[in-house]
Amino acid sequence: MKKVYIETMGCQMNKSDTERMLGMLSYMGYEETKEPEQADLLIVNTCSIRQLSEDKAFSQLGVWGKWKHEKADFKPLKIGIAGCVAQQKAESIFKRAPYVDFVLGTHKIYALPEIIERINKGEKVCECTETNATEDNLAKNYDIKRVKGVNAWIPITEGCNNFCTYCIVPYTRGRERSRLPELIIKEAKDALNTGFKEITLLGQNVDSYGKDFKDRNYRLADLLRELNAIDGKFRIRFVTSYPTDITDELIKTVVELDKVCEYFHIPMQSGSSEVLKAMNRRYDRQTYAKIVQKVRDMVPDVTITSDFIAGFPGETEEQFQETLTAIDEFELDYSNLAAYSPREKTVAARWTDKFIPEDIKDERFQRLNKKVQENCLKSNLKYVGREMEVLIENFYEHKGKMINTGKTRNFKTVHIPCDKDLTGEFVNVKITGAKTWYLQGEIK
Ligand code: SAH
Ligand code: SF4
Ligand code: F3S
Repeated sequence: MKKVYIETMGCQMNKSDTERMLGMLSYMGYEETKEPEQADLLIVNTCSIRQLSEDKAFSQLGVWGKWKHEKADFKPLKIGIAGCVAQQKAESIFKRAPYVDFVLGTHKIYALPEIIERINKGEKVCECTETNATEDNLAKNYDIKRVKGVNAWIPITEGCNNFCTYCIVPYTRGRERSRLPELIIKEAKDALNTGFKEITLLGQNVDSYGKDFKDRNYRLADLLRELNAIDGKFRIRFVTSYPTDITDELIKTVVELDKVCEYFHIPMQSGSSEVLKAMNRRYDRQTYAKIVQKVRDMVPDVTITSDFIAGFPGETEEQFQETLTAIDEFELDYSNLAAYSPREKTVAARWTDKFIPEDIKDERFQRLNKKVQENCLKSNLKYVGREMEVLIENFYEHKGKMINTGKTRNFKTVHIPCDKDLTGEFVNVKITGAKTWYLQGEIK
């Protein structure tokens, strides 16, 4: 049996693509290996959100290129690149990395089986056009090879129409397309039948799900209702929410449905209305504030997390401070942070005269990081003394003690000392302490 190794570098969407590729490859007789040295086929599934992620992709290819050369005498090695860097750079990758056998863009992952046949005949293949290879004709030929665990990720929308001025995703993932509810529900049922306890619906803007359906009026709230009606004990989550696409109906649905968890990821990106405008985000500070307040008022114990960019072109010290105050004022429970990185094709990348020097970006990033840590601890402290349901995800040894870790419904990580492996179980836990990144608990 031939062996394949896939290095996955990107977001959950990218990880989900890896699971789909492994499904197709297994159908073609490839077995997954966790050791790249053992593989006959090496694939790097890339991310291009920041320059650093793109550089990582090419340095990985460089290492494998050397192996290909060294091993040429005793084992023919094939190398492929997939994901967002592949989509963006297409044929030009062959020039920079001539040892690459195939370049597979994000729109064409279902063409993988055909590509593998062609490269095994000695061809070099680049499939990066934007026409989507539709999933229905190919989907029947594979089962998804999900990474074993508790949570199954299911993409519900692909692409993005928002064109924030810093972001490459609309160029690497194309326009927004919603997947059919029938397909999503089938995938959810399959995952639950094989033991998964949580379904996370994925999309760049999950709350605009269904806007593009011409033959039906069906939105995220409808999908949540149908999923919630599936028998059995499990949880449902969804990420990422674009602030102004969160409808009252969606919030009400979250409250109403027992399986849908009290968690919203609502990236704000900047606390300054001027910067938000330059970013082409469709809200200002006040609008964001109102949305977050509404979610907090309607959903008890909700966790709200965000993303922020430090040092967007032209960001002044005062504007940066508005981001710091936003984190406090809106009591954001946790935020992902990034220093601005100029990306090819994007509008902001042309504003070179407004670029913020690296040292200032770094310094702002550090200050943001400190603020996020403070708030995370503050948010965690609220739950000490409470009883919460935890879905156990992991069991491991730490300093001679056995620990179960898992998540509450509102996405807090809890560490529970316990000798028995409870992975996949729902347990009632008394919260006994809070650290910056997790809660401590005891089984009731
Ligand atoms: N669709 C989501 C974000 C997806 S990209 C949303 O609109 O909120 C994930 C995060 O990467 C973004 O929220 C942003 O904070 C960060 N990001 C995107 N492009 C970036 C860039 N050029 N430089 C730094 N961070 C970036
Ligand atoms: Fe990127 Fe903006 Fe789309 Fe999010 S909404 S993926 S940040 S363009
Ligand atoms: Fe995801 Fe990175 Fe592409 S964040 S959508 S893999 S650019």
